Order: sequence, then structure tokens, then C-alpha cells
Amino acid sequence: MNYKNLDPSKIYLITGVAGFIGYHLAEKLLEQGCIVVGIDNINDYYDVSLKHSRLEKLIPYDQFTFKKGDISDKGMLMNAFKEYKPNIVINLAAQAGVRYSIENPDTYIKSNIIGFYNILEACRYHSVNHLLYASSSSVYGANKKVPFEESDFVDTPVSLYAASKKSNELMAHTYSHLYDIPTTGLRFFTVYGPMGRPDMAYFGFTNKYFDGKPIKIFNNGNFEQDLYRDFTYIDDIVEGINRLINKPPNTDVQHKVYNIGNNNPEKLMGFISALEKALSNALEKEVEFDKSFEPIKPGDVPTTYASIELLNEAINFQPKTTLEDGLQKFVDWYVDYYKVK
Ligand SMILES: NC(=O)c1ccc[n+]([C@@H]2O[C@H](COP(=O)([O-])OP(=O)(O)OC[C@H]3O[C@@H](n4cnc5c(N)ncnc54)[C@H](O)[C@@H]3O)[C@@H](O)[C@H]2O)c1
Repeated sequence: MNYKNLDPSKIYLITGVAGFIGYHLAEKLLEQGCIVVGIDNINDYYDVSLKHSRLEKLIPYDQFTFKKGDISDKGMLMNAFKEYKPNIVINLAAQAGVRYSIENPDTYIKSNIIGFYNILEACRYHSVNHLLYASSSSVYGANKKVPFEESDFVDTPVSLYAASKKSNELMAHTYSHLYDIPTTGLRFFTVYGPMGRPDMAYFGFTNKYFDGKPIKIFNNGNFEQDLYRDFTYIDDIVEGINRLINKPPNTDVQHKVYNIGNNNPEKLMGFISALEKALSNALEKEVEFDKSFEPIKPGDVPTTYASIELLNEAINFQPKTTLEDGLQKFVDWYVDYYKVK
């Protein structure tokens, strides 16, 4: 991969650094000799020991500084900007998950709205070269037209999570307009890989297999008209963010939003067979999930995937990792990390 565009004299602030994407990005920047400051509140939305394991891999780098803190704490954030003077800010700290937002709305407002507002305020008073922040493919809600394009109408979110991410895009636009802050929003499409998120399907299915429990598949058991989804391997995401870091928008209002996905929808059942195959390879025996087929969930759309034309034009972005290779890397990590062979 080519990271030669990165300037090692700059200071990179990554929020959510103990999270899945934040950790992988930080590691790649550190490998290139960059100075990275990471912030995370290490919340217990999922297994905290996984967050500590990620941090343990970053701590040995001399150019890495970790600060435990909550981005909804404006004083903490302002002090961090004053102390470390970051040039590039990548805001990945957020409450993720669509279903969790039904039971726990407060945390979405706290982290995703107030927290992001604080990031914008900090960038307003401490000038930065570029602020990149995580949005989500969830903003497309129940849109049926595929592929999803950045110009599509996304004003009808169907979860508070999606509403918070769309709000981030609006807030970023306003701050770019008012204070000339270069900002880029990234609409991630299901990112997966080693050290990934236990709340996501590929991870949950793998847990179920080792717990000897069936996996639930919400496609009516209809393989002819299966659901199609876009999966993006973590290294391709990190590569995309790296290339974008030095490409702040040069439009009038310096704000841009990009899809960052795979543009290659996979059948849900194809994804499950690839996971079975990866497990079979890792365990050196035939693995088949115990499957329970459930009705399609209300609101689930048959096909979702990203148009990545805009990102391709901007940074020549083209994901390289096949689902088979990516899932094998995930499973190999899982088997080793949880010592389940
Ligand atoms: N992984 C995906 O498929 C995906 C898809 C769409 C969008 N996203 C977005 O990308 C970003 C990173 O996702 P991820 O998969 O790495 O999630 P993650 O949950 O693994 O990482 C987020 C990290 O942020 C931290 N955090 C949460 N609230 C915080 C707060 N208020 N202050 C400080 N730290 C806080 C958490 O402890 C966690 O370590 C998130 O904004 C998420 O919404 C991810």
C-alpha cells in the first residue's frame, strides 16, 4: 500500500482509537512514522477487553499518545487540541449500531451529536488542515434505488443512529461554510476484518458456531431472491482514508461526503458459505452453520451497495480484497485470539 503522501511532521488526532476502524488506521499511520494522538472513552457497548487488546498493540509505538476521554466533554477536548495541536483530525468516536439506538437513544445524542459538535468547535478555535469524520451507509435508510449515490435524497432516516450521522453531515457543512474548515464525511458500508466489532453479523455468526448455537438468517430461506449486501475489508477502508487525508475538499464550501464501500454486492447466502469455508480452512474440518431461516425484517431492503464513483475520481479508490480473502483473515485472527482451535 502507498502511504507516501503522509507527512510525518504532522500530528494526527484519531478519536475512537480503541475502536475497530480507529485502531487499524492508527496502526497504519504509526507504521509510517506519523505522530498519532488517540482519544477513546473505552465504553462497554461491546467487550472492553477487545478495546484494550487493540490499544496494547498501539502503546509500544513511541509516536503514539493515548488519552482516555469522552468527546462529549468539551473542556477535555479543547484542552487536548490546545496541548497536542493536531493538524489532521479523524473523528471515528461514536455510538454505532442501529438496533441499540432503540433502547439507548441518550448515548447517540451524547456521543454523536454533542460529541461531534465539540469536535467542530475545537476545529473552529484550533485551526486544522483537514477534519475527516465517520458518517454511515445507514443514512440511505429504506432507499430502494441502487447503487446508493451521494446525491440521493437522504432526508428520511429510519433510526436515530442514521439521523445522528446525517446531522453530522449537516453540522460539518455549516462549520465548513462559516469557518472555512476543510471537512470530509465518510459513509462507511459494513466494514469487517480482524479485531472487528462483535456486534456485527460476521462476528456474531462465528461466536454462535463456537457456542454450538444456530445462526438466524433473515431472508425467508429464499436463496433465489436472496438479500444482497456490500462488505468492505478494513485494509481497503484504511487505504481510502489515508489517500483522502491529503485531499481536503477544494470546493467553495470545503465540505464533501463520500461513500466508502465495495460496489460489489454479495448474496447473504454467499457470504455465509464464504464464512463456513474460512472456518473449515482454519479448523481443518468441514464446518457448516446450524441455520434458522426467519422472515425478512420489516424495512429490510433487498439490495444495498455503494456507488464509489466519486471516491474513485477523487483518490482512485478501488477495494482490492475479495470477501473470501477478507473473511479468511478475520477467521484466522479469531481462532488465534480466542484460542478456539
Ligand atoms: N464498522 C462499520 O461497519 C461502520 C459502518 C458505518 C459507520 N461506521 C462508523 O465508523 C466509526 C467507527 O466505527 P467502528 O466500527 O470502529 O466502531 P467501534 O465501536 O469499534 O469504535 C468506536 C470507538 O469510539 C469510542 N467512543 C464511543 N463514544 C465515544 C465518546 N463519546 N468519546 C470517546 N470515545 C467514544 C468507543 O469506545 C469505540 O472504541 C463510528 O462512527 C461508526 O458509527 C462504522
